[in-house]
Amino acid sequence: MSQILVTGGAGYIGSHTVLELLENGDEVIVIDNLSNSKLESLKRVEELSGKKIIFHQIDLLNKDDLGAEFKKYDIDAVIHFAGLKAVGESVKIPLSYYQNNLTGTLNLLGAMKEHGVKKLVFSSSATVYGDPDSVPITEAFPTSATNPYGRSKLIIEEILRDLYVSDNEWDIILLRYFNPVGAHKSGRIGEDPAGIPNNLMPYISKVAVGQLEILPVYGNDYDTPDGTGVRDYIHVVDLALGHLKALEHLSVHPGLEAINLGTGRGYSVFEILHAFEQASGKTVAFEIKPRRTGDIAKCFADTSKADDVLGWKAERDLAEMCEDAWRWQSMNPNGY
Ligand code: NAD
Ligand code: UFG
Repeated sequence: MSQILVTGGAGYIGSHTVLELLENGDEVIVIDNLSNSKLESLKRVEELSGKKIIFHQIDLLNKDDLGAEFKKYDIDAVIHFAGLKAVGESVKIPLSYYQNNLTGTLNLLGAMKEHGVKKLVFSSSATVYGDPDSVPITEAFPTSATNPYGRSKLIIEEILRDLYVSDNEWDIILLRYFNPVGAHKSGRIGEDPAGIPNNLMPYISKVAVGQLEILPVYGNDYDTPDGTGVRDYIHVVDLALGHLKALEHLSVHPGLEAINLGTGRGYSVFEILHAFEQASGKTVAFEIKPRRTGDIAKCFADTSKADDVLGWKAERDLAEMCEDAWRWQSMNPNGY
C-alpha cells in the first residue's frame, strides 16, 4: 500500500482523485489550506469510500508545516493540485498568483528533495498551448501563456524540466487537463465554485437550478460550426482515473512526460447547453454577449499519448457529464 501526498486534495479535481485513490487501496494524506474548498468534501469522500483520509490544513507557503509532513509520513509520491486557478482574477492580482502557485510549488519541491521523494504528478493545463494554430493539440505543440495563471503553469512546467535535467532520478508527469466537468455519480461531491462561476458548466447548472437568470454566451462569431467556442470537456472521474494511471506509470517508467488529458472531442457552447437541457429537463436561458477577452475559438486534445503511454482513455460521454453535473447541482443547490 503506498502513501500518496495530495496537495489541494479538498478541491474539485483533488477530492474526486482522492476518492479513486482510496478505492484503489492507497493511503492518502491531503494537505490543503481550504482557500478555495471546504473540509466537507473530504468528509464525504470518507463516507463514500468507508476509509479514512489523513488531512492537515496547511498552506504550501508555510515551509515548516510542509517539511513536518514529509518527516512524519513515509510518502511515495505526490500529486500536486494546489493552486489558484481563475484566469480573470490572475490578470487582476498577478503577484498573488505567482506567489501562491510558484512559491508554493518551489516549497513543495524543496521539501520533496530534502526528504528524497522524487515522484510527482503535476496539474498542468491546456492553457499552456495558448492559441494553437490547429486542433487537435498534441503535446509537441509550442507552448505560450496569455495570462498570469497560464504563465504560472508554464513556468512550473519549465522548473520541473530543469529539476529533471539536474537529477534524472526524478519521475515527473505533467498532466495537461482540458476542461474538467461533471461530478461523482453519487451526487455527493462535485464542483463548488465560490460566487458567480467563471466556467461554462457550473454557470449553466446554476441557471438550470434557478440561482442565476441567464447564461452569457461569449461570442457567436468564432470560426466554428455554430460560431460559439469549442472545448474538450472531460468527466472529472475520468480525469481522476488518469492520475492513478500516471502514478502507476511513474513507478515503472522513470522520466519526465507531459500528457494531455482530454477526450479528443470538441463541443460548442450551444452543444453543451442543449446536452445539459436534455439531462436536466430544464430550459437554460441564454443571451449572446461579446467575446470574452483571451478566449480562443477551438481547443481539443490529441489523446493518443495518454493512450500509448498511460493506457488511459476517457470513457464517459457528454450526456453522462451533464447528468452527473446536474445530479450534484440539484442535490446540493448551495454547494457543500
Ligand atoms: P480547486 O480550487 O477546486 O482546488 C485547488 C485546491 O488547492 C483548493 O482546495 C485550494 O484550497 C487549494 N490551495 C490553493 N492554494 C493553496 C496553498 N497555497 N496551499 C494549500 N492549498 C492550496 O481547483 P481544481 O479545479 O480542483 O484544480 C486543481 C488543479 O488543476 C489546479 O492546479 C488547477 O490550476 C488545475 N487545473 C484545473 C482546471 C479546471 O478547469 N478545473 C483546468 C486545468 C488545470
Ligand atoms: N463560456 C460562455 N459563457 C460563460 C462561460 C464560458 O459562453 O459563462 C464559453 C467560453 O467563451 C468558452 C467555453 O464556454 O468558449 C468554455 O469556457 P470555460 O470558462 O468553461 O473554460 P475555458 O476553456 O475558457 O478555460 C478552462 C479553464 C482554464 C484553463 C483553460 C484551458 O477554466 O483554467 O480551460 O485549459 F486555463
